[in-house]
Amino acid sequence: MENLVKRGKTKALFRREGGVLLMKFGDDLTALNGKKHDTLEGKGRINAEISYTLFKELEKAGIKTHLLEFVPPDSLLVKELEMVPLEVVCRRLAAGSFVKRYPFVEKGKRLDPPVVEFYLKSDELGDPLMSDDAVVALGILSREELDYVKETTRKICKVLEGFFEKRGIKLVDFKVEFGRNKEGNLLVADELTPDSMRLWDAESGESLDKDHYRKGAPLEKVRQVYEELHRRVCHAPV
Ligand code: ADP
Ligand code: TMP
Repeated sequence: MENLVKRGKTKALFRREGGVLLMKFGDDLTALNGKKHDTLEGKGRINAEISYTLFKELEKAGIKTHLLEFVPPDSLLVKELEMVPLEVVCRRLAAGSFVKRYPFVEKGKRLDPPVVEFYLKSDELGDPLMSDDAVVALGILSREELDYVKETTRKICKVLEGFFEKRGIKLVDFKVEFGRNKEGNLLVADELTPDSMRLWDAESGESLDKDHYRKGAPLEKVRQVYEELHRRVCHAPV
């Protein structure tokens, strides 16, 4: 495909006319900042469909995102943005690096308010955690933008939590990115997929996300989990 703008670890971006990008989701599975890599046939299609469904939910709730259209089988048309170099993580239940950092916190503890954290997007530096003041002092976001990003991320949390609850799933945590459009307004961008979220089955507590891969499960198990999540998000009646 022509006009490649960027090939990331799991997605490729191609320029279309009028400030539009085609975002193609690949079948790559990565962990440990790209040091672990495999491919899972069909994952690109699953992640594109899940991301499309979840971004639509955000738009329905009045949250401004980069989403334009789904392009079968595995791509989305999105608005091209100037990306903010932050991974914005929101934690509803304690898990992952949060319980490693605060080992006195029980895994699964509900966090109120949901905790919004900023990590600098830098593979070389291993995505270091940044305080709110550092984000402002280093000119990454203005104070006003930072407040908007935190408020919007908590809104996303509320929308996704309700969406997943109806499907028998607990939202644990997720990562989003933001970018500026030509007018300088911030929009929610990148992806919302089992690669960038933690989700637990409400009954069994089993992970329905990339944690299986991070922990070394066989690829066949990872495939089953992605297919089950895809079924519940995109096809199961609610
Ligand atoms: P990585 O994990 O290496 O960042 P990905 O495979 O997720 O890579 O690549 C997607 C890239 O596209 C990321 O750099 C992300 O910041 C960027 N991106 C996401 N949405 C947009 C957008 N709407 N406009 C421009 N770039 C975007
Ligand atoms: P963490 O507990 O490992 O910090 O991850 C928190 C959430 O952010 C989890 O849902 C996975 C997601 N995430 C990404 O999408 N990309 C990343 O590089 C990291 C570190 C986490």
